[in-house]
Amino acid sequence: MRANPKSKIQNPKSDAPPEGFTGRFKRDEPLGRYTTFRIGGPADGYAEPQDRDDLARLLLWARDRDLPITVLGGGSNLLISDEGVRGLVIRLNRLKALRFEGNDVIAEAGLPLVSFLRRVADRGLAGMEGVVGVPGAVGGALVMNAGTPHGEFGDHLIEAEIMQPDGTLLTVPREYLGLGYRSSQLKERGEMVVSVRLRLLPGDPEAVRAEMEKLDVHRHETQPLKIPNAGCIWKNPKPHAAGRLVDEAGCKGMREGGAEVSTVHGNFIVNHGGAAAADVIRLMKRVRARVEDVSGIRLEPEVQLMGAMDWES
Ligand code: EPU
Repeated sequence: MRANPKSKIQNPKSDAPPEGFTGRFKRDEPLGRYTTFRIGGPADGYAEPQDRDDLARLLLWARDRDLPITVLGGGSNLLISDEGVRGLVIRLNRLKALRFEGNDVIAEAGLPLVSFLRRVADRGLAGMEGVVGVPGAVGGALVMNAGTPHGEFGDHLIEAEIMQPDGTLLTVPREYLGLGYRSSQLKERGEMVVSVRLRLLPGDPEAVRAEMEKLDVHRHETQPLKIPNAGCIWKNPKPHAAGRLVDEAGCKGMREGGAEVSTVHGNFIVNHGGAAAADVIRLMKRVRARVEDVSGIRLEPEVQLMGAMDWES
């Protein structure tokens, strides 16, 4: 959904939310508060659509004004520029319904993954255990095909509802999404996830809950979850684990401003307070250079960079 990146909401007429819009709409909204990293400047326009109709209205409204659109998911895998984001930022947190049909679970994009997993486990449906520990919401989990070494969000996906840039709602089969390792083709097509349908396996609620609990305990023991962070910074360069490479290169504890490579897990950068996006980027560059020196492996970011940033892949 790339339009003129210089577009701004300046015209008083276009400053008003779209006619009939019932969600929340703000201008110059600081975005750090919507991220788990607690970093990021303001969005020119910021909207939380109430439902699908609201979302479609918003997309058409933005298209009429040539505003670039950025979708903010759970805000957990994200580094937002200190200068913020031009155009319109849409957060789907109000689209969070979930229902079951037999062994199928149908969940909307804004539902946090932890709530999703809890409901699935209570229902005694198995197959999503491999996603325990992934932060964020359902939509972002699909766009990124988020996961762990034990499984990926898309593993049991049957179909998804997506919205195209012109507000058209489509139900598409799994093949359409082009799922790969931490990737899909949704972003480059400017399409956003509205809901997903996963076909899970019948199981026993107690057993599913126990398995999830076990994985969650591991995560709490091995990740710096009490300090603001963006989840894993780097993709795992299979068969290697990025956390181990960073660790073995001696990068843990490296600092730039308030940003530090976690001393607990090498694939995390924590914000000790007041870290700027620029600090994180400087730190990422130092880590990448040192890991490449030591191991010969070039790390690629898993964290999504949003807004103008001094980073080249
Ligand atoms: N390791 C080290 N040093 C470290 C960190 C890890 O040697 O500082 C080693 C571990 O001992 C282990 C290996 O590296 O042998 C992998 O570490 P871990 O089990 O922690 O898993 P990971 O691959 O680093 C993945 C996901 C996480 C998810 C955990 C759940 C990716 C890129 N990351 O981490 O997802 O929470 O599994 O176990 O797949 C995220 O997506 O943002 C995220 C945090």
